[in-house]
Amino acid sequence: MGIKTKPVMLLKTDDRDQKWAETFAEIIPALEIRIWPNVGNPADINCALLWAPPPELFRDLKNLEVLFSIGAGVDSLLTCPTLPADIPVVRMVEPQLTAGMVEYCLFNVLRFHRLMHRFEEQQSRRYWEDLEQVPASEITVGVMGLGVLGQALSAQLCALNYQVVGYRRSQQDVEGVEVFYGEDGLQPFLSRSMILVLLMPATSGTQKLINANTLAMLPPDAFLINAGRGDLVDENALVAALDNHTLEAAALDVFETEPLPESSPIWNHPRILVTPHIGSVTFPPTACRYIAEAIVGYQHGAPWPNTVKTESGY
Ligand code: GLV
Repeated sequence: MGIKTKPVMLLKTDDRDQKWAETFAEIIPALEIRIWPNVGNPADINCALLWAPPPELFRDLKNLEVLFSIGAGVDSLLTCPTLPADIPVVRMVEPQLTAGMVEYCLFNVLRFHRLMHRFEEQQSRRYWEDLEQVPASEITVGVMGLGVLGQALSAQLCALNYQVVGYRRSQQDVEGVEVFYGEDGLQPFLSRSMILVLLMPATSGTQKLINANTLAMLPPDAFLINAGRGDLVDENALVAALDNHTLEAAALDVFETEPLPESSPIWNHPRILVTPHIGSVTFPPTACRYIAEAIVGYQHGAPWPNTVKTESGY
C-alpha cells in the first residue's frame, strides 16, 4: 500500500501535532494521520511531517516514500542518524512562513536603521537626544542567503528604498539586488553590509561563517540580524565584536544551543535583542494546503516540489 493509493502520514512536529492533524483532516481527508510515538504498524507509514526527529524515529519505517520538513531549514532532519539514504525531503515553502520571516527581518532592519535600540536605552535613563536620522537610501542592507526567504526580504527592502546587496553560493541574478557569490564575493559583500541579515541554511559549508575574521570585514558600526541558524555565527566572536565596538548591535533569533542557556552572556548584553526562535513559525492552514497539493500532484505523476539537494544539504 503506497502513497499513491493510501497516504499514511506520521506527525512529529513542533508541539502542535493535534492542530496539524485537525488541519490535515479538513484539507485532505484521505490522509490517515499517526502521531509519534503512536506509530501503529510502522509498515503502513509512507510519508512524514517532521521537526527535529528523535534519533531512532526512522528505524522501523521501512516503507517511507517522502518526508516533509515543517521548517524552512532541514538541518535537524538531515542530521538524524536513522534517516534513510536517498529519500526525497520536501522543504517547506509556504506563503505565511515567508511573510513571517520578512516581517521579523524588516522589523529589525527598521529598528536599527531608525536607532530605536538607542532610543530605548536613552529612555531607560530619561535622557533626551535627537540622534541623527538617515534616509533608507543611504543604508546598505546585506542579505546573506538569497533563496525564497532572502529574495522575498530583498524585494521589500528595495520597496522601502534601502540599497540591497546579496550573497549566495553561486551566481544568480536577483532583481534590484547587487549579488556577490562564492568565496571571492564574501569580503566585498560584507564590506558593504551596514546591516547584515543572515538567512543561510546550516550546512557543513556555512558553519561559523560569521566569525572574528568575517565580522572584521563589516563596515564600522555595523548591525547583525541572525534569522537563519545559530550555527552560522561564532557567538564568542560576536560578543567580542560588540564589546570592542566592531559591531554596533545585534538581533538574534537563533543560537548555537537552544534554548539559549541561562549562563550565556548574550542574555543580558545591552546591545543584543534576543528572541526565542520565533522569526517565522509555519502556519498549519497554508502549510497543509502546500503538502496536500504536493501529494495529489505526486499521485498524478508530478515530481515532489522543492526537494533538498543532497550535494548542497538544503
Ligand atoms: C525555522 O527555523 C525554520 O526552519 O522554518
